[in-house]
Amino acid sequence: MTEALRPCLILCTTCRSGGTPLQGEEPAGAVLHAALQARLSEDGAALIELRAAACLANCDRGCSAAITTPGKWTYLLGFLEPALADDLLAYAKSYATSETGIVLPSRRPASLRNMIIGRIPDLERDDRRWDHRRSESREKTMTESGMSEREPSHPALESRS
Ligand code: FES
Repeated sequence: MTEALRPCLILCTTCRSGGTPLQGEEPAGAVLHAALQARLSEDGAALIELRAAACLANCDRGCSAAITTPGKWTYLLGFLEPALADDLLAYAKSYATSETGIVLPSRRPASLRNMIIGRIPDLERDDRRWDHRRSESREKTMTESGMSEREPSHPALESRS
């Protein structure tokens, strides 16, 4: 894998994960970022680039992260927590080896099956993989995108629909 195709995993380090940190306590997003940084320094640093951002505009669903690579789908993830660092790293590695960036829910760690908040197509791609005009349902769109599974919603989002 070339350097240019290395996925960038961006962690929101200001996410509070639904709580308010105590005085002097790091936000949950910063704790998750530190946990990933420690793991990547030991293993996999060449495969994934880790970055930090102050807010990914997904505050109510934090901790939040995004993963992106030129030529692949970009994904926004939510409802993360520091305890999921290993699972998030496993997902990022699967994303890195996927041609399109698609990692089906059944191929993710169980804790991340419903953590996808949204995705953004790669603008350089000019094929039906992300031609949403051809489908009316989300499920059909995902089938046309090479996904044979519907993206599950997080329970916190189910109550809103
Ligand atoms: S504070 Fe993390 S998404 Fe806004």
